[in-house]
Amino acid sequence: MEKQLSGEPLSGLRLPTGEITTGDRPARTLRKRNARIARALNLAGKRVLDIGCAEGLHSLYMSESAKEVVGIDHRQSVIDRAEANRQLLGISNVTFKCGDVRDRELFGGIERFDLVVAWGLLHRVADVFSFLQSVGPVADAFSLEWRTPVLPFMSRLSLAYHSPIGDALDPMNLEFRKNGGEGGERAIADSEKIEGYTGFWEPTPGAVRTICRRLGFHHIRLLGYGENLKSEFRTVARAWTGQAIRKLAGKAVHQIPLARVHMVFEKEPGMIELRDPFGSDVKLPEWEQAARF
Ligand SMILES: C[S@@+](CC[C@H](N)C(=O)[O-])C[C@H]1O[C@@H](n2cnc3c(N)ncnc32)[C@H](O)[C@@H]1O
Repeated sequence: MEKQLSGEPLSGLRLPTGEITTGDRPARTLRKRNARIARALNLAGKRVLDIGCAEGLHSLYMSESAKEVVGIDHRQSVIDRAEANRQLLGISNVTFKCGDVRDRELFGGIERFDLVVAWGLLHRVADVFSFLQSVGPVADAFSLEWRTPVLPFMSRLSLAYHSPIGDALDPMNLEFRKNGGEGGERAIADSEKIEGYTGFWEPTPGAVRTICRRLGFHHIRLLGYGENLKSEFRTVARAWTGQAIRKLAGKAVHQIPLARVHMVFEKEPGMIELRDPFGSDVKLPEWEQAARF
């Protein structure tokens, strides 16, 4: 069976045989807060699309309660790993596909999804509005997690911050510009499609709220900021205090501090049920608990 796999599974997964996988990348490196949210969502009978699914662990967590999950990522190498994880764990209601959200055709002619999840993605796409506009028609609800500039009243302010460092650090951005930008020819090797810092635009929660409202998502929940889903007030106070301390210590800082934010958008209220992600009943699946070595 192993011979048929084209990707290496993540390490630390407990397989149905009881064996624990080994390898270069432990499962626990995927964001833990998103793992908790994946497990806290009640997805009974729902179809879910996970965009930017990377090695697929969150898709696989969601498959425990969902009817069906489709995971998409633009790197074939991570899709191969996701598929290897799926096969080894014997999970049958998840499909992984390689696709780039910049491809305007990607969402044309596909079936609707009850929930579209895009975690760690919005600040990596060149044009947030076009991305949400192209996926909006196939989604009844969104769960979005991304990096926001931390500003007072950021959940109301519609702004996007562009960090000039991002372009310089990411070969994909450089290649993207060299090939003529949006719509240009993009012959980028899979290994160049990094998941690391891209920094095209970092939109405030207010900006994403405005875009989603225009697309018909009127029911909006802001789950919170950072690893522990903190309040907006605490996030602003901590980020700017930390910024001042780093500046005093002579360290390099972004002009505006950044934080992660998680929001849920629905076309009709109550489409997506979410338990408290930090409640004691939300646990990682048994096959991933093995990852805590
Ligand atoms: C930071 S990772 C997030 C992975 C996972 N969703 C999580 O929350 O841990 C972002 C993922 O989005 C993928 N990605 C970035 N740009 C993309 C694009 N234009 N189309 C599809 N996937 C993309 C990257 O390859 C990477 O796996």
